[in-house]
Amino acid sequence: MVLELANRVSSLSPSSTLAITAKAKELREQGEDVIGLGAGEPDFNTPKHILDAAVKSMYEGHTKYTASAGLPALKQAIIKKLQTDQGLTYKPSEIIVTNGAKHALYTLFQVLLNDGDEVIIPSPYWVSYPEQVKLAGGVPVYIKSQEENHFKITPEQLAQAVTGKTKAVILNSPSNPTGVLYTQEELVELGKVCLEQDILIVSDEIYEKLVYEGSKHVSIAQLSPELKEQTIIINGVSKSHSMTGWRIGYAAGNDKIIKAMTNLASHSTSNPTTTAQYAAIAAYTGPQEPVEEMRQAFAERLKVIYEKLIAIPGFTCVRPQGAFYLYPNVKAAAEMTGYHNVDEFAAALLVEAKVAVIPGSGFGTPDNIRLSYATSLDQLEEAVTRMKQFVVAKVQV
Ligand SMILES: Cc1ncc(COP(=O)(O)O)c(C=O)c1O
Repeated sequence: MVLELANRVSSLSPSSTLAITAKAKELREQGEDVIGLGAGEPDFNTPKHILDAAVKSMYEGHTKYTASAGLPALKQAIIKKLQTDQGLTYKPSEIIVTNGAKHALYTLFQVLLNDGDEVIIPSPYWVSYPEQVKLAGGVPVYIKSQEENHFKITPEQLAQAVTGKTKAVILNSPSNPTGVLYTQEELVELGKVCLEQDILIVSDEIYEKLVYEGSKHVSIAQLSPELKEQTIIINGVSKSHSMTGWRIGYAAGNDKIIKAMTNLASHSTSNPTTTAQYAAIAAYTGPQEPVEEMRQAFAERLKVIYEKLIAIPGFTCVRPQGAFYLYPNVKAAAEMTGYHNVDEFAAALLVEAKVAVIPGSGFGTPDNIRLSYATSLDQLEEAVTRMKQFVVAKVQV
């Protein structure tokens, strides 16, 4: 049989983060002591009261389908969260619960984009944005943020990228992979452009709770009623409550869009897993201390590891204020150690220094590598020591 796959998946790139993780796993299985800094998820278990709520729900018989847009009680919990944290008021018809934030984004682009519609994506970007836009027939239009500008796009850059076909812009603050957070003032200026040009803002706030060193997360939707109208907020419990495997996210915004997303979900997933929805209710309505404890652990790691990282010859790094990633520029280190590019340098770090990092090429900036500090401080310190020894030894040769 000659099997031909659909055109829509022919150019789909596999996730670059998964390729390195697979190679690291292979080395570990061969007995190599590899430290993985590729993880995109917190290294803590889901807090106990959330686990208990999930188990209880199952024994109470909540094991059946739910409404496609999610349990009314979970929607209410999300509405309360948005009111408390952002001061934003939403109706249940403006909320859809999804199978993770990734699925909220996927569904959103499916209902939003016609062939050829453009979505502006600041680079570096989370790997799934371009692929999701393309899968919906859209065209990703990249704005290259400058490292000197802390990886933030400017209002001028945004205005220049807009064409007659622009449908939306994606803002991800705090950002994966850079950890950078937009200030209120910066969002006001970007918001003006979006309103002037009448483009939708997709605000991915999945790392909202993970902000450090006195920084404050602001949602662009908070800044005015007009901006709220123009924004779809994407968020969920994956990173805030260490619940990546439960697959619960949500979208909040314009009810026409949410209704279309709900219709699509009703024919694809039916509903997010019922048990996970009960767990998410407990996450939003229960004690928030575990969230703060995890945040503090990340904050401590960042403090220790950042200084050590920038002490490696050839490494420079924009100081992140959120998420759990560091995104150093290592072009100079790759050159000093005799590699053609950072992809090769990252491959050698894995094989020779036994440290798995993600090359920046997958995020649209090939001079950087992404390191996740969602691992113990001991492991992080050992990893940075290994990387430094690797670079110093090669430079001396
Ligand atoms: C920027 C960003 N958005 C969305 C997601 C997806 O989150 P979820 O696990 O809830 O699908 C991730 C996960 O890595 C992410 O980094």
